[in-house]
Amino acid sequence: MTTPLLTEIDHVAIAVRDLEAAIAWYRVTFGADVAHREIVDHDGVEEALLVVADSFIQLVAATRDDSPVARYLERRGEGLHHVGYRVADCAAALQAVKDRGGRAIDEHPRPGSRGTTVAFVHPSAAFGTLIELVQE
Ligand code: CO
Repeated sequence: MTTPLLTEIDHVAIAVRDLEAAIAWYRVTFGADVAHREIVDHDGVEEALLVVADSFIQLVAATRDDSPVARYLERRGEGLHHVGYRVADCAAALQAVKDRGGRAIDEHPRPGSRGTTVAFVHPSAAFGTLIELVQE
């Protein structure tokens, strides 16, 4: 492979119980501004993106009890949830994982927040870290 498939850290996602409290803490402590807020129904989350240079901190809270983030919070508590890697071609990056026998959570790229195209890769395929491939 000659061209790297990952072009940037798009975001670091942190699961929180109280989105407003987390936003306020980042604003007061670090002066971080919210660039975007969105409820993503498909995932059962509300998220807030805080700008850090060309990347984001993504604070995610559950909007319903049966969402994956709600189950995560129940099991593991608040903390690092996933890392979003920016890619030029989500389908190609997802295929690269599958080609090596890795388990995809999303079989095909799908719409994410901010009008992006995303696919999640299972932690078992990536050394224990949930990865989101993000194509703008
Ligand atoms: Co994300």
